[in-house]
Amino acid sequence: MQIIIAKCKEEFDRIAADTVSQQIKDKPNSVLGLATGSTPLGLYAQLVERNKRGEIDFSQITTFNMDEYKGLPKDHPQSYHYFMHKYLFDEINVRPENINIPNGEAADWAKECAEYEEKIRAAGGIDLQVLGIGHNGHIGFNEPGTPFEALTSLIELDKRTIKANSRFFDSIDQVPRQALSMGIKTIMQSRKLILMICGRDKAEIAYKAIKGPITPEVPASVLQLHPFITVLLDQDAASDL
Ligand code: PGA
Repeated sequence: MQIIIAKCKEEFDRIAADTVSQQIKDKPNSVLGLATGSTPLGLYAQLVERNKRGEIDFSQITTFNMDEYKGLPKDHPQSYHYFMHKYLFDEINVRPENINIPNGEAADWAKECAEYEEKIRAAGGIDLQVLGIGHNGHIGFNEPGTPFEALTSLIELDKRTIKANSRFFDSIDQVPRQALSMGIKTIMQSRKLILMICGRDKAEIAYKAIKGPITPEVPASVLQLHPFITVLLDQDAASDL
């Protein structure tokens, strides 16, 4: 596990963007695993800028997002489809047919999850997965207690996740209670990972994920077992390390 502590938010975003840019330069047809949330917003802004300046090319890139709320239509402002298009996909030269996000409105969940796994396999697997972490240690929407062997599935969201994400909705009652998420095993099968953690409010969970016991109660702790993971923290998130 490589641990990098960025001096400031600019450096945090730049290091994350350098990691993704290098992956794209090394392998122009890379398969990228992508995350939503506040943490990667600066990364996506940098990737958009670099693409517009012609420094990186997404024309052969394939993407797989980790998760999507159950029941939200693609054009719902809080859906992860909407988020990804707004902050990244609509601004770069990725081909629409190469973008993959779980379908939150699928009629058959088991089929949607199995097909998502199959699509990742057919694309050759994920080369670089970008990850954030929840205050409860979740990665994707794999909440505490999710088995490490889990593949993409329908997840019951944890109370803490619903509360944290209610900041984006008019009221907590509007936050979906379930989501489709890549499994922990799916995430661990990625060739490389970058876990991004920022903010003082993430310091305790950062410590548990990086230095604590490896346990399904802290889903991100499984990442200690991955041979090619970079953990990128800002100084606030690293304050308990
Ligand atoms: P955040 O979400 O980046 O908005 O903190 C991370 C997560 O819940 O995985």
